[in-house]
Parts: sequence; structure tokens; C-alpha cells
Amino acid sequence: MSESQLWNDVDDYFTSLLTPADDTLAAALRDSDAAGLPPIHVAPNQGKLLQLLAEIQGARRILEIGTLGGYSTIWLGRALPADGRLITFEYDPAHAEVARGNLARAGLDKIAEVRVGPALESLPKLAEENPEPFDFVFIDADKVNNSHYIEWALKLTRPGSLIVLDNVAREGRVTDADSTAGDVQGTRAALELIAAHPKLSGTAIQTVGSKGYDGFALARVLA
Ligand code: SAH
Ligand code: DHB
Ligand code: MG
Repeated sequence: MSESQLWNDVDDYFTSLLTPADDTLAAALRDSDAAGLPPIHVAPNQGKLLQLLAEIQGARRILEIGTLGGYSTIWLGRALPADGRLITFEYDPAHAEVARGNLARAGLDKIAEVRVGPALESLPKLAEENPEPFDFVFIDADKVNNSHYIEWALKLTRPGSLIVLDNVAREGRVTDADSTAGDVQGTRAALELIAAHPKLSGTAIQTVGSKGYDGFALARVLA
């Protein structure tokens, strides 16, 4: 059996047991696929991890960078109380439209707002609104800007907030310091920032599964 087949089988076992069939999530993926969105959403067991982390965090306000069809957004939205708030940034208007439909079907349209545009333009606009600090930030957009997203997350959070960064291993490519790939350099810069920043305490974890070989970084905002 190939390694990746084994990872898929174990993920199937975990997800069938722990994240059982869910019409809302299945419909979100179906509509995303029908609209031609790439299948680069988090896996179900990863989505549940995001939900659990946000719940452990006691999150009332969540910021997401990189919506796609809103699959991870639904998992995160489910961690929030009825008066919670989630803002998610998406560059592509077609992705945002699919996400809005999926969030409405999930009953999250009062809680979750999709803002369209390059996140590096949307973030300063959000900051100008002087929003209450976000308790949880999920960064999952264009990897080349990952360190900028960490910087913005720091401005928009509070001591105790949690920042999660997706896709940090990229099949091991992250260790290539000489890589000319923007995603590798962006992620390395983000990890170096987390490591060096006096207000961040972080780690990174490799993952395997139905989404291949990748990883997450976690960083807690310190006082
Ligand atoms: N979080 C989603 C997957 C996001 S995929 C999930 O797990 O379900 C990455 C998304 O980031 C894509 O939809 C892409 O269009 C968007 N994106 C890429 N560059 C961006 C940018 N500069 N600003 C905001 N979104 C961006
Ligand atoms: C890609 C982006 C993602 O956010 C992800 O989780 C997997 C793949 C990509 O751009 O290929
Ligand atoms: Mg991702």
C-alpha cells in the first residue's frame, strides 16, 4: 500500500467516526465543486480541529484570511455563540459568492461576513474601524504574504488570542531556504517572525492525511 493510500484510509476512519456525514458541509463542498473552485479546503478532521481550538479559546470574534467556498468558515462559525462575529477575507468575488450561499445554508449569515478584495487592502480598512480584538485568526490565503498576515493578526488581536497558519510544511519544501517559490519564502518569513516576536509563542506541526503532507503553525499572543 502506498503511503498516501494509508494516510487516506486512516483519515477516512477518523472522519467517519469523529466528523460524521453532515448535509450542510457536504452541500458546501458540492456547490464549491460545481462552481469550479479548487478542492483546497481543509479536511473534515482539520475543520473540526479548528472548531475545537476556537471553542477552547472561548472565541467570540474570529478573523479568517482566505475563504474559498466557506468550508473552514462553517467549521469556525460553529464554534461561535449566537452573538459571535466572524469576518472572512476573500480575493476572488466568485469564491465569495459561493461562500455566502454556503454560509447562509449553514445558518451563519448573521454571524459571518465575507469581505471581497486582496486581504492586504481589506486588513487596513478593518483596522480603521477599530474593531474589538479578535480571539482567533485563521490564515489560509496566498502564502507569499503569510508574514504580513501575522503582522496584521497581531494588530487585530489581544493577549491570549490564537493565530493558526495553514499549509506550513508543503511536502517538506518549507526547509528549502534557497527556494524561489513565494509560498515557501512567505511561510518561512512567517515562521521566523513567530519565532522572533516577543509577543508570540508558537509551534508548528506536520500533518498527513487526505490533504497530503502539510502542516499547521499555531501562535499565541502574549501580554
Ligand atoms: N480556508 C479555506 C481555503 C482557502 S483557499 C478552507 O479551508 O475551506 C485560499 C483562498 O485564498 C482562495 O479562495 C483564494 O482566492 C484566496 N486568496 C488568495 N489570495 C488572496 C488575497 N490576497 N487576499 C484574500 N484572499 C486571497
Ligand atoms: C493550496 C492552498 C491551501 O490553502 C491548501 O490548504 C492547500 C493547497 C494551494 O494553493 O495549492
Ligand atoms: Mg490551506
